[in-house]
Amino acid sequence: MIFFCNFATSKLVTNMLRTHNCGELRIDNKAQEVVLCGWVHRSRNLGGMTFIDLRDRYGLTQLAFNEQVNKELCSFARTLGREYVLQVEGVVCERSSKNPKMPTGDIEIEVHNIKVLNQSKTPPFTIEDNTDGGDELRMRYRYLDLRRNILKQNLSLRHRLSILIRNYMNDSGFMEIETPFLIKSTPEGARDFVVPSRMNDGQFYALPQSPQTFKQLLMVAGYDRYFQLVRCFRDEDLRADRQPEFTQLDCEMAFVEQEDVLQMFEGLMKYLFVKEKELEFGSFPRITWDEAMRLYGSDKPDVRFGMQFVELNDAVKGANFKVFDEAELVVGVCVKNCADYTRKQLDELTEFVKRPQVGASGLVYIKVTEGEIKSSVDKFYSPQQLTSISKKFNAQTGDLILILAGEKHKTRAALSCLRLEMGTRLGLRKSDDFAPLWVVDFPLLEWDEDTQRYYAMHHPFTAPKTEDYPKLFTAPADVRANAYDLVVNGVELGGGSIRIHDRDMQNDMFKTLGFTEEEAKNQFGFLLDAFEYGAPPHGGIAFGFDRICAVFSGVDSIRDFIAFPKNNNGRDVMLDAPSNISQAQLDELNIKLK
Ligand code: AMO
Repeated sequence: MIFFCNFATSKLVTNMLRTHNCGELRIDNKAQEVVLCGWVHRSRNLGGMTFIDLRDRYGLTQLAFNEQVNKELCSFARTLGREYVLQVEGVVCERSSKNPKMPTGDIEIEVHNIKVLNQSKTPPFTIEDNTDGGDELRMRYRYLDLRRNILKQNLSLRHRLSILIRNYMNDSGFMEIETPFLIKSTPEGARDFVVPSRMNDGQFYALPQSPQTFKQLLMVAGYDRYFQLVRCFRDEDLRADRQPEFTQLDCEMAFVEQEDVLQMFEGLMKYLFVKEKELEFGSFPRITWDEAMRLYGSDKPDVRFGMQFVELNDAVKGANFKVFDEAELVVGVCVKNCADYTRKQLDELTEFVKRPQVGASGLVYIKVTEGEIKSSVDKFYSPQQLTSISKKFNAQTGDLILILAGEKHKTRAALSCLRLEMGTRLGLRKSDDFAPLWVVDFPLLEWDEDTQRYYAMHHPFTAPKTEDYPKLFTAPADVRANAYDLVVNGVELGGGSIRIHDRDMQNDMFKTLGFTEEEAKNQFGFLLDAFEYGAPPHGGIAFGFDRICAVFSGVDSIRDFIAFPKNNNGRDVMLDAPSNISQAQLDELNIKLK
């Protein structure tokens, strides 16, 4: 294979491989001698002319080879395969047929020299916006997938947002401080990834699920405004918005109350929206957790559209319709202009709510049509009763009411899925629409039936609301926390709380969570000790940075905003990790496999 095709006296510079990148040349550069480097994106042979689109991170530039001008060079150009790495030298010329879709579409390079910097095997999928490569294949060759525009755009967005965040945090007086990755395992929260210690036989570190305790220690240490763009590790089941290693924007402030934290980080989000999207927002709306559950059946409601829940217990019970009579909650939504849904469409919706992921047992509908009201429960309710139910929804002619019934929490969750589905079907969840929302006043604790104990809803360091603190031992389920989430378009972008900074209150919290004094000391003794050396009042928040990137792009999955993500089974298919380790490594760590 020829690596160097030098058909004229070469001006190719070796110490600086290029004069321009593949995205920057314009008509103003006409007649300039340039040197470009890049990958062969595609080539076309049109009779006497050969064209190659040369690609790099910045774009594409067309290279032109005219058989009549230089036959040998033209034939050589035809031998260059996709993804070959070239250095070319030539003159910028005006194109005879311009391409208005390409920023460099007015020009092409009339090439006089080519140097093949490297060859390439034919890639296993096309490096195009609409690639022919399946998911698994693209993950295996992630470095090739990363050459595609969409991934380049995603990673550029991620980079820009990280710079904007650092600017805002710096301007607001925050210090970025790194915290350790090899820490102590704790049983609360998700599962830890653990790392065996060679020097401490039989003992393990854990990778941090978040720097929570360290940032609190930094507050005790007096670093009153801390932040960190930091990798976190959680061994939990994966979904589109979850990766086992992900990045948080982690923040903490001392001498603050909840309002101060909300203002500071609402400011950050507004700054990001203005700088990246040129979108201005007024104050973000706030909703209590109770209200969010009642109106949307979710603690992360998508409020780009209404379709709020209407509870119907009072209106529907006692009509001998067993499903409603026996239900803890009967609740519905009104879908605008869908009364013309066909039998087939309604059956489809019924199938949708019956899917195990949604979990409802059936679906009741009421159609409000011109002069008539029809429903799947006509047998049990008179037209007058149905009309009065429809009035509760403010339903108009042409609207469709969808109703679910059953146990309260499950029914709300199922109706929340149905509401989102209807929002999607009706195009109400536009990707360029952004609806931020604070959800506040989360419950401090949640009861777990399996283990018959309370767990901290956020984490065990979250402070109860002062007025609810006395209920910690008498009515734990009713205690609200000074905890808040920032939700955008139905995605929990961030969550935080005001922390307990008083050792006695922290002990009370551990007691409520069923920790003995011994267990609390064992797991969090360092924090409890620190609280005895002048812990200031403090609070903070952490945002999922990958999620911020995905939401800003109007995409559900965070995977393509991470350069080298894991697949849905937590595997890196490119590295083939996790993998077995050698017997020698196991012996050194004193680990015996079953
Ligand atoms: P929390 O557990 O709510 O709080 O996490 C904060 C934010 O991190 C993001 N996130 C994730 N992103 C991708 N993949 C995951 N597996 C994943 N898990 C969480 C979410 C979430 O809102 N220390 C506390 C914060 C605090 O109290 O200051 C914490 O970690 O966007």
